[in-house]
Amino acid sequence: MDLADKLMNVIVVTVSLLAPFFLHQYRSLKAFISTARTLFKENVTGEVVLITGASSGIGEHLAYEYARRGARLALVARRKHRLQEVNEICDIIGSPETVYILGDVSNIEDCKRFVDATVDHFGQLDHLVTNAGVAPVCLFEDYEDITKALPAMDINFWGSAYSTYFALQHLRKSKGKIIVISSCSSWVFAPRTGFYSASKAALISFYEAMRIELGTQIGITIVTPGFIDTEMTEGKCLSKEGTLEVDREMRDVQVNVMPVETAERCAKAIVESACRGDKYLTVPSWMHTTVLWRVFFPEMMDWWNGVMLMAGAGSSSRDAPSKKLLHVATGIKQLFSLEAFLTPSK
Ligand SMILES: NC(=O)c1ccc[n+]([C@@H]2O[C@H](COP(=O)([O-])OP(=O)(O)OC[C@H]3O[C@@H](n4cnc5c(N)ncnc54)[C@H](OP(=O)(O)O)[C@@H]3O)[C@@H](O)[C@H]2O)c1
Ligand SMILES: *[C@@H]1O[C@H](CO)[C@@H](O)[C@H](O)[C@H]1NC(C)=O
Repeated sequence: MDLADKLMNVIVVTVSLLAPFFLHQYRSLKAFISTARTLFKENVTGEVVLITGASSGIGEHLAYEYARRGARLALVARRKHRLQEVNEICDIIGSPETVYILGDVSNIEDCKRFVDATVDHFGQLDHLVTNAGVAPVCLFEDYEDITKALPAMDINFWGSAYSTYFALQHLRKSKGKIIVISSCSSWVFAPRTGFYSASKAALISFYEAMRIELGTQIGITIVTPGFIDTEMTEGKCLSKEGTLEVDREMRDVQVNVMPVETAERCAKAIVESACRGDKYLTVPSWMHTTVLWRVFFPEMMDWWNGVMLMAGAGSSSRDAPSKKLLHVATGIKQLFSLEAFLTPSK
């Protein structure tokens, strides 16, 4: 070990050991700043917001939440009929003007086109919400063609990076914000969703670096949702053939008895957080405690997800204990509702 290394050992270790003593002051300062930000939170009335993946789920409800606050919206996704419906509702509930643009975020030309179209139409861009995403759900070894998992990165990661790239110059002008929809899956790992976790963790690493590159001119809110009630948690996933499919049985394995938050509440929390200028948001907030588990008891977490989500040797990969647990829980629930039904109400 050379001298520099020895020196670093002494300095870095000493500073790291001393740092916790200043944690209290550091947290007080952060609490103060956060309160100040709540007082001066952004009013998005009349501002222009571009949302990718606005045709269902979290993106759809983000559109409604921004519309209620009077923002002008550009909605992007691939399903036209769904976008049309969301657009109509936004017009009714308070958006002065909403447009929708068909586009595939994994296609760089599409990303340039929808960003340009938004700015051509509205003359500005204040918030970019990169929300479009898909979830491949398949054991790694079960892929017959591994390239069928590419859309996870192409849509979830590159789709966000492309949109951001073309939006930057406009966001600089407006001192705007980027709201990135990552996922708790970036630190809570489960079998079958390795590519999903990887794509969501990539988003976090990338936008943390962007924060430093872009400085304070453009705000970045990294959102990590837990389970949210959307088409995705209803079982829509990217199959091993690379197509979007609804697999209810797989849903029962992966989501099982976990409580799911409504997309409305999730969207409201996201817009609040973005307007406050938060750097991070986890919804539902209790999911944030899993960070502590990841730091202090990572083996426990992985062991639990292995036991619950992997099927025993010899049985179908779908026969995981989590599915049985769900069946038991559903049975108990039915028993209670049956009892409520049999008990005469007054
Ligand atoms: N639900 C959860 O529990 C959960 C948890 C953590 C994070 N998230 C993340 O939240 C985001 C929204 O998901 P969701 O739960 O609301 O699921 P969802 O209802 O399936 O919504 C996904 C949205 O992304 C769009 N999309 C997919 N591929 C696209 C592409 N290539 N180009 C453009 N749009 C595309 C879909 O529209 P089209 O199919 O019409 O293009 C749809 O509007 C995703 O990034 C997801 O990973 C969800
Ligand atoms: C936001 O601004 C609009 C006008 O620009 C105003 O009418 C509205 O009351 C403001 N909303 C809040 C919550 O301050």
